[in-house]
Amino acid sequence: MADSQQKREGFSSGLAVFFATLGSAVGLGNIWKFPYLTGQFGGGAFLLVYFICIVLVGLPVMLSEFYLGRSTRRNAVGAFEKLKPHSAWRYTGVMAVFGVYLIMFFYSCVAGWVYLYLFKAVAGDFAGITAAAAKAQFGSVVVGPLSPIIWQVIVMATVSSILIMGVKQGIERITKTLMPLFFILIVLCDIRALTLPGAGAGIDFLFNVDFSKITPPVILTALGLSFFKLSLGMGTMVTYSSYFTHDNNLFGTAVKVAFSDTLVSMLAGLAIFPAVFSFGMEPGAGPGLLFMTIPLVFSQMPLGSVLLVAFFFLASIAATTAMLSLVEVPVAYFVEEKGYGRKKAVAINAVVILAFGALAALSADSSALLGKYTLFDKGFFDLFDYISSNILMPVGGLLVALFVGYIVKKSELREEVTNGGAIAAGLFDLFYFIVRYITPALLFLVFLNSIGVVKL
Ligand code: PHE
Repeated sequence: MADSQQKREGFSSGLAVFFATLGSAVGLGNIWKFPYLTGQFGGGAFLLVYFICIVLVGLPVMLSEFYLGRSTRRNAVGAFEKLKPHSAWRYTGVMAVFGVYLIMFFYSCVAGWVYLYLFKAVAGDFAGITAAAAKAQFGSVVVGPLSPIIWQVIVMATVSSILIMGVKQGIERITKTLMPLFFILIVLCDIRALTLPGAGAGIDFLFNVDFSKITPPVILTALGLSFFKLSLGMGTMVTYSSYFTHDNNLFGTAVKVAFSDTLVSMLAGLAIFPAVFSFGMEPGAGPGLLFMTIPLVFSQMPLGSVLLVAFFFLASIAATTAMLSLVEVPVAYFVEEKGYGRKKAVAINAVVILAFGALAALSADSSALLGKYTLFDKGFFDLFDYISSNILMPVGGLLVALFVGYIVKKSELREEVTNGGAIAAGLFDLFYFIVRYITPALLFLVFLNSIGVVKL
């Protein structure tokens, strides 16, 4: 182990740390989840709630995960093992790896649809499309059976070939190139959308402030969203932070990533809703918005065909960089805990993800090949999403907060998180208080609610 520790790769600078971590946070969640929920649940008021969730839960858990990764320089399971050898805490890591697989099974499928739509946009398939045709196109994509599987394979081939190049040559190089490009593309889409006639209604939808829409279920939605958005509770941030530079300002990185990720969600909302309203459409949530409304709306505007390519390209970047961080979790685990070579670990994981991912791809619609099979009343696609997002993520986050708040020695935590007292020493006590008392209480409530014990 000491030997492999010495050879362990890492990111080369603070900028690399920032782009890689942001690449994990920025994903499909920014494009179809966040803007829609913001508009639906009170605009500015929802943003305020989301912001409070970030401060009380998101940032403390992110910092805790950074602590676990950087202080141990291990994968999600090894980190717990190193800090508390031969204890049951390692199962928190095992659970995270399990949860990450479930996310990857359906996330790789949606990423495949996004790649396919980029391909269609380039091929000009959306020119002059009608609402009925947009619906029919998406319908045939989710029913498949062949094309969703083929595109899922293309996603995994892309992600795997980046990961095989390693942490520096793969993850760092790609995220440092793609994230700035992502920003340019999204701003381009914003400029076009905001200069359409009638764009104001879209801005109103996003930024109206309506406190009456903030109810307990909405608060829980904001909390869950902040977790999914910041890639927490799944070992992702533990794994990435194990590659951070030793002098990285962990507080600074956490705040910058959370802020930039929220900014991206806003920019995505500003690219989508002004256009949707300008063409007199109703905004819908989720996959429908991304795969039916966008092609329809963008294809109707001047320069629309170029914009569609830009949009699905930026969505592909978001999906790919998030996938990198997901797959790296089991890859690091297999390399460090099981002694696999990196290539072998990547290849085996790609095969496993594709095998189970096919279950998701073939069950995304009730008329798909496996659409009729259900477990606990849910098809595979929904089941993977439900168990990972609603159960494993909050439980994982809760356990991380409890571990860092009660098991880890305070002095060691302070030493690592403040870089030996050099950084944000004054903030440490506030962080420690929140992570011990507030974060676990809130996450426990989320968990009870999601399993139906408490109804808020
Ligand atoms: N944060 C990603 C998104 O918004 C999803 C994700 C969740 C990535 C968990 C890694 C781990 O799409």
